[in-house]
Amino acid sequence: MSYRTIGITTLTPHIGAEVHGVDLARPLSNEQFSEVYQAWLDWKVLVFRDQHLDRAQHKAFARRFGSLHVHPMQHSYGGDPEILTVRTTADSKYTAGNGWHTDVTCDEIPPLGSMLYMKETPEGGGGDTLFADMYLAYELLSDTMKAMLDGLVAVHDGALPYVGAYGVRPPEGQDYPRHEHPVVVTHPETGRKVLYVNSGFTSHIKGLAPWESRMLLQGLYQHIATEVRLPCRVRWAPNTLTFWDNRCTQHHAIWDYHPHTRHAERVSIVGDQRPAA
Ligand code: SIN
Repeated sequence: MSYRTIGITTLTPHIGAEVHGVDLARPLSNEQFSEVYQAWLDWKVLVFRDQHLDRAQHKAFARRFGSLHVHPMQHSYGGDPEILTVRTTADSKYTAGNGWHTDVTCDEIPPLGSMLYMKETPEGGGGDTLFADMYLAYELLSDTMKAMLDGLVAVHDGALPYVGAYGVRPPEGQDYPRHEHPVVVTHPETGRKVLYVNSGFTSHIKGLAPWESRMLLQGLYQHIATEVRLPCRVRWAPNTLTFWDNRCTQHHAIWDYHPHTRHAERVSIVGDQRPAA
């Protein structure tokens, strides 16, 4: 975990790091890119401060990691399909990500990572994002619970954010992806095990009675939301870009700033394989 071309200040000993010495507006050298890539695997969440990016530069940096993802909701908004606008104002009825989730796990192959670029932070403070370490969430389970989860498969339903977190029905006539993933997956690059259910998208665990599935999922969600060793906290400023590994983290955007405005843009990168045990 030592780097030659970038500097790192960690947010906690296991998740989150601020990266120094990188200008994302310019193409990274191959050496710097491979160190950023390694730091992303090591720290799961990378924070780049004082970056002055237009949309093309934001997307160009994301493209170094793979092709760009189009969010299943985004086609109904118009604009650039590869940019997800995250904007909350005094009039908003809900805000994106205000609950623990992993991005778009309803997809057959969910995005491998997302980059959120902050354009406006709320006057008066607030609007931080928490990121939780899902390797550690798995490792902190008892051996008995690990054995119980082994081999279980869960359904991830794209309509759930609307009826749950967003409090509205999906727009008429729109189909949302629904796919199954193992409850415990192995990160394809690090080989480490990850707890892979989230309250944003996971509707139920297959093969269990509804009450059994609810009990197990609620217990796991409580573990994720209340185990204080899991998260790091990103405090935003305008021109901060945060890049998270969606395969081993969950995040929660805290909506504690009403009636003020927060505005960011997200670009996500298409995953290259289905989550697997
Ligand atoms: C999200 O991607 O879920 C939004 C995160 C945030 O607004 O901090």
